[in-house]
Amino acid sequence: MSGAAPVPSGPVVAVEKLSVTARGNRKLLDGIDLDFAPRSLTAIVGPSGCGKTTFVRSLNRMTELTPGLRIDGRVLYLGQNIYGRSVNPVVVRRRMGMVFQRPTVFPMSVFENAAFGLRLVRASEDEVDSAVTEALQRAGLWEEVRANLDGPALALSGGQQQRLCIARALAVRPRVLLLDEPTSALDPAATQRVEATLQRLKEEIVLILVTHNVAQAARVSDRIAFLHSGRLVEVGATGEILERPREPLTMQFITGRV
Ligand SMILES: Nc1ncnc2c1ncn2[C@@H]1O[C@H](COP(=O)(O)OP(=O)(O)OP(=O)(O)O)[C@@H](O)[C@H]1O
Ligand SMILES: [Mg+2]
Repeated sequence: MSGAAPVPSGPVVAVEKLSVTARGNRKLLDGIDLDFAPRSLTAIVGPSGCGKTTFVRSLNRMTELTPGLRIDGRVLYLGQNIYGRSVNPVVVRRRMGMVFQRPTVFPMSVFENAAFGLRLVRASEDEVDSAVTEALQRAGLWEEVRANLDGPALALSGGQQQRLCIARALAVRPRVLLLDEPTSALDPAATQRVEATLQRLKEEIVLILVTHNVAQAARVSDRIAFLHSGRLVEVGATGEILERPREPLTMQFITGRV
């Protein structure tokens, strides 16, 4: 099995008028429209509390795990609304995997961490073996762990653990990987390894990267989407947004003033 899937002609993900409303009619996201093309890395940036995490959690139906939030609008994955009645959210989350700020490594071996999602779908031993090897290679971790796949994952460094989380998500062959500040708990060297992994992966799948760090967005993204107070203020090619933003709020953010 190869990690490469046929490249669709339209967007892989199309977000249409997405709003998330909390109790008291407080809008956490307000009418977001945004498409994600195949083989792209979009950085989602904006000040703390602007809705970045809520946005990525709404792309794979994790927002509904928090009681009290209403979701309106549509998220089309390869043309199908993931909020449709007949859609199983567990399947959505497999197609659009998530990597969190802190590595969510389980107290089991490196191999079993990477195999976790495959076990849930009862993949055969042969499938698990080959998919784990491929996922660890794609996550840029294989050379570091191949001699000790049965060792405890919690003995890995923070950066290795985060790449193991990326491998775990990749093992079930998602088309989209959502990453919510995946390097904010890592040192610069570990951050660099994760960024190198993301740059390779964007040739294969859609990456949506939440980052606080404008320099990181500049290093790895093709496109930047700037959120403020739950609204999409501006989206454009990374160079354009950093050098010639159209909106004053974007300029204030990238120059560190909001
Ligand atoms: N379950 C909830 N109920 C009510 N308000 C919420 C809920 N979850 C988040 N919020 C609020 O929604 C807003 C957006 O939160 P979110 O976590 O998406 O922001 P963020 O951009 O990821 O921030 P940060 O950069 O600090 O991670 C914040 O004001 C937050 O307090
Ligand atoms: Mg957040």
